[in-house]
Amino acid sequence: MCGIVGYIGKRRAYDVLIQGLHRLEYRGYDSSGVAMITEPGELNIYKSKGKVSALEHFASNKDISGTIGIAHTRWATHGEPNDINAHPHCSQSGRIALVHNGTIENYTVLKEALSQQGFNFVSQTDTEVVVQLIEYIMDNNHCTLFEAVAEATKRVVGAYAIAVIDRQNPRQIVAARQSSPLVIGIGEGEYFLASDATPIIEYTNKVVYLNDGEIAVIEPDKELKVYDSNAIGKNKIEITELQMSIEQLEKGGYPHFMLKEIFEQPRTLADCISGRITADGKRVVLSGVIENRSKFLNTNRIIIVACGTSWHAALIGKHLIEEYCRIPVVVEYASEFRYSNPVVNQGDILIALSQSGETADTLAALELAKQRGAFVFGICNVIGSSIPRATHSGCYIHVGPEIGVASTKAFTGQVTVLAMMALLIGQMKGTVTDQTVEKIATDIRRIPTLIQDILSQSEKIEDLAKIFTYAHNFLYLGRGYNYPSALEGALKLKEISYIHAEGYPAAEMKHGTIALIDNDMPSVVIAIKDNVYDKTVNNIQQVKARGGKVVAIVTEGDTVVRNMADYVIEVPEISECLTPLLTAIPLQLLAYYIAVNKGRDVDQPRNLAKSVTVE
Ligand code: G6P
Repeated sequence: MCGIVGYIGKRRAYDVLIQGLHRLEYRGYDSSGVAMITEPGELNIYKSKGKVSALEHFASNKDISGTIGIAHTRWATHGEPNDINAHPHCSQSGRIALVHNGTIENYTVLKEALSQQGFNFVSQTDTEVVVQLIEYIMDNNHCTLFEAVAEATKRVVGAYAIAVIDRQNPRQIVAARQSSPLVIGIGEGEYFLASDATPIIEYTNKVVYLNDGEIAVIEPDKELKVYDSNAIGKNKIEITELQMSIEQLEKGGYPHFMLKEIFEQPRTLADCISGRITADGKRVVLSGVIENRSKFLNTNRIIIVACGTSWHAALIGKHLIEEYCRIPVVVEYASEFRYSNPVVNQGDILIALSQSGETADTLAALELAKQRGAFVFGICNVIGSSIPRATHSGCYIHVGPEIGVASTKAFTGQVTVLAMMALLIGQMKGTVTDQTVEKIATDIRRIPTLIQDILSQSEKIEDLAKIFTYAHNFLYLGRGYNYPSALEGALKLKEISYIHAEGYPAAEMKHGTIALIDNDMPSVVIAIKDNVYDKTVNNIQQVKARGGKVVAIVTEGDTVVRNMADYVIEVPEISECLTPLLTAIPLQLLAYYIAVNKGRDVDQPRNLAKSVTVE
């Protein structure tokens, strides 16, 4: 969470910074700020509570000149969102400005020590100690900004990506990273800096991803210098070429990124599948798995760690892997796993599942498993992000940048990769027949077209949403492969409409939750034709018998549930293990239209951030 942007070169820095902040707003949007040096000794800092547009409004009649600057969009951790706690933060003398993404764990100790040295703090943030510490070191050691940053990084404990400027030197930005992402874009006589590549892509496709412990000295018209944490050795710079396009970062005519991303799924899943199923449809090819064949053949257990929507995809992955590979799978919330002193045995495989590849808890969980001897495999979307760089191997879901805070196309991409992985491992182990692999692989290829068919019902779902917009509570019920779908459907509704919703295994409802059902509490029931269809039908009867309204997601042509439920949405028939890929679509659309009807900020719901890089 929190997004950082920096620019140094010939352009007006403000324009690059503001545009960059807009691109990074998905990381946090409760306040934002910019700092520009207009000439040596002149540092302008503007900050504003609220979204980046509020900052733009605030700065509209101010001096926004200068070709060097840093900027920040915040998701509050320490101190409420207000103008003072917003970044950039400034040192006591007003000389140094700094933006920070992450959390400083020992900030109270540092603050105390610096206070005793006469430093006054104006904000409630952990970040302010870093900028004061840098000034303290510069003053006491009579050293350069770079040397002071290097020394400060040795004294702070926690996660950080920082960018720092000194108003006396408009020709330099110093940046450092530890556990929070930082990317440097290399232009012609100019450099860009950001938490991810999205603010950079419109200027250059050449980037350098900083590694943990590295410090960069960025000066226009000079070679980029990256040092290790001891500020001694100059590290070798690895330039990566970005494969992203600007169109992927725009709404493309849709009112919201979320709707665009829902409608994109036929194409994103085609991209996700592309080249991964052989032309004869008989085999799956995932190089990260094939290269580590013996690990997957010999493991006794797979642990999947994830958060949020990715955790729901992981639950579907468990079903898939257990069914087709006969390997026990444990799914853990990354945040719980990392503090539970987990049993990790040599030979265990840990899969870190994450859209952003930056979720702090997932990253920490995989580091712990790695230390304890597990083989660590990443399934991520953002190329070059921290998790793929920390894992032994992995594969990308290739669904393109997901900007809407509520995850949609990443969820279906994750489930698709997990399905292909299960088939591949199962085939290597001999726990699934070639016929089954061929059948499911063929069905995977049909998914994009089938999703397109479901999307053509969007108007019907939009109408349905009108009926339920004013419900205060929802129950989502599903079983087997679609129990996680129910959890995900409920989460989608909660996060963007702020309506309370609970996902539940349909059969478990009778053990308590059924008491909640009345005329005012609609149930969304996933009742497709699977191996527990008849039982789910019984669960619908139980809801109806108590006066509950039922929206059912059914297999095309179903007449039994149609006669029972108040409203039905049909999805085409497909191999049972792939049904979550189809049922996800109406659930996403229902949540989307209800949120729009309620006038919610769909792409940037309150209190949330897309990439949670703090604990
Ligand atoms: C945040 C987002 C969720 C996301 C979760 C995990 O909470 O709001 O949409 O599912 O993080 O993110 P990851 O990038 O690790 O999949």
